[in-house]
Amino acid sequence: MNVLLLGSGGREHALAWKLAQSPLLAKLYAAPGNPGIAQHAECVDIALNDHRAIIDFCIRHSIGFVVIGPEAPLVGGLGDNLRTMGVGVFGPNKAAAQLEGSKGFTKDLCAREKIPTAGYVRVESRDGGLAALQDFDLPVVVKADGLAAGKGVTVAMTHEEAEEAIRAIFAVSGGSAVIEEFLEGEEASLFVLTDGTTLLPFGSAQDHKRVGDGDTGPNTGGMGAYSPARVLTPALEREAIDTIVRPTVEALARMGAPYSGILYAGLMLTRTGPKLIEYNARFGDPECQVLMLRYEGDLLELMLATAKGELAGRSDPVFSADTALTVVMAANGYPGTPETGGAIRGIDAAEATGAKIFHAGTRLEGDTLVASGGRVLAVTARGNSVRTAQATAYRGVDALDFATGFCRRDIGWREVEREGAAPA
Ligand code: AMP
Ligand code: GLY
Repeated sequence: MNVLLLGSGGREHALAWKLAQSPLLAKLYAAPGNPGIAQHAECVDIALNDHRAIIDFCIRHSIGFVVIGPEAPLVGGLGDNLRTMGVGVFGPNKAAAQLEGSKGFTKDLCAREKIPTAGYVRVESRDGGLAALQDFDLPVVVKADGLAAGKGVTVAMTHEEAEEAIRAIFAVSGGSAVIEEFLEGEEASLFVLTDGTTLLPFGSAQDHKRVGDGDTGPNTGGMGAYSPARVLTPALEREAIDTIVRPTVEALARMGAPYSGILYAGLMLTRTGPKLIEYNARFGDPECQVLMLRYEGDLLELMLATAKGELAGRSDPVFSADTALTVVMAANGYPGTPETGGAIRGIDAAEATGAKIFHAGTRLEGDTLVASGGRVLAVTARGNSVRTAQATAYRGVDALDFATGFCRRDIGWREVEREGAAPA
């Protein structure tokens, strides 16, 4: 079968690497792809918002299946358009992708279904928002309603900060916001595959969202991750599926908007149990990189079964007992304006240390690989403990020659501390 993979980040390089291992694959195409993805796929230059061009490409190249990596095409209804044309898709339709596309939609669904999440109000005007803030204790969380590429959330420690966030959201016409209570606990990400009816757990991870060591500085798309997230014990995972994910999937099915694809639940593990922070309608980046390093099955076969509604009766996907850990190398300036164009050398030397390098924001300038975005590489490794996976990943980092890049040096610190405290 010919497959088209959409996206150009580290997540999509990891998906391409895994899809390429499937015996069911005839030819893999990627749009727009990147030089890492090009090791496994023929990259074609099609814009992801050009649904017409994507459909034309599928017809001309006998594409049987499209894997949609990022959220914007899902929220924009590309899944619906491809399914209408008879092309199989991994990823939800527009109506179900609202779980990521609209925070208000998700909060209202949680309220109706009594799904544990932070108490909230939706506000549709600046003055309404400023008034509603008075009902919340500090810290308080202010979120823009729509997709914001990780930049729409303010955890405000003061009323001034919260008011500033409300003003910023309503400075743009058509603004809409959610104000919610601050949840205390440790965060973990849970991934669940579903065809709309059956749920299969697909691993867990912990991300590192802040740019600096010790979780300091501004938020980013993610500076590193590891899997599994051991704080999400099997009992807590079951509780999260039973109280959060299953009621969500059932509610969407009842609404006539069944969810098909991977559902990424961002959880806060509070003293009173797991609570939903947010849903994403896709794999995480860089969480996907660590999941793919541990997943032992045939990814294409599993994605096809998901799309066809054939998950019933399957056993849970099998993951290596190892830990996988990824360190993101970003371009100087990220998460502000990144310095692009800097040369990257030493990928082969880095992989010779045992790490797997996924390209996130790279392009070729002649024969030279250069940085083309904020997050540039995801240096990923496996080990029988977090400490060993971390050591291998940083050996890979240190073998790279990327003068205009930087990374955090403490990815995995929570787990390393816990391993240190555990009896040998
Ligand atoms: P989101 O884009 O919704 O994942 O939010 C980004 C980050 O903001 C999350 O990963 C959390 O660290 C933080 N956050 C969001 N909502 C809350 C909340 N209600 N309580 C505490 N932290 C939150
Ligand atoms: N790493 C967070 C995300 O993919 O949303």
